[in-house]
Amino acid sequence: MPHGDIDIPEDIVTKAAFYANLLLTLESLLDDDQTNWITALSNASSLLYHSFLSFPLFFGVTETQTPVVNWSGFYLVSSLFPASSSGKAPKANILLLGPFNGRPACQQIRTVAGKGVCADAFVNSETVLVKDVESYPGHIACDGDTKSEIVIPLVVPSKIEGEPSRTVGVLDLDSVVLGTFDEEDRKGLEAIAELIVRSCEW
Ligand code: SME
Repeated sequence: MPHGDIDIPEDIVTKAAFYANLLLTLESLLDDDQTNWITALSNASSLLYHSFLSFPLFFGVTETQTPVVNWSGFYLVSSLFPASSSGKAPKANILLLGPFNGRPACQQIRTVAGKGVCADAFVNSETVLVKDVESYPGHIACDGDTKSEIVIPLVVPSKIEGEPSRTVGVLDLDSVVLGTFDEEDRKGLEAIAELIVRSCEW
């Protein structure tokens, strides 16, 4: 794919078709011999952000030209990050901000249930769909403009039979419009998260 070329074909008029196209585009972007998660997640967050921006039927921009989906990115378990040069290990039980597109965001999120949408999606390894962030207990407001949100866990299945899967982080999408995300988005984004997980070494 040429640099920055994110055109959604005109015959794509449903969310299901949008996500099918997004999955194929991401697959081609990640389909090489590089499996570093920082590189893959950097491109994935950019592709998602710009694809939402280029799909005015459901996302696009508001009347004031603000992107509807104003943040697209990842929080990852701290153990994935390199230790500091002094040898100090990263703090345990937190998610650290990873690759993203959008305004600057909170750098750390405690992995404790009830401490926000990302924490809940991570702790329960389940997607959390929030129609109105103000009514979500514990929601962390990184950007006061955000009105709705969806967070999808990144779950790495075990290669050994009988061993549990491992949740390594979350994919987080924010919107400035109430109720932006629905069950179609959940389905589409869970497939995107699965592709990301299997394209990287964790
Ligand atoms: N709202 C999230 C925090 C991350 S930002 O939205 C980028 C939460 O409640 O966990």
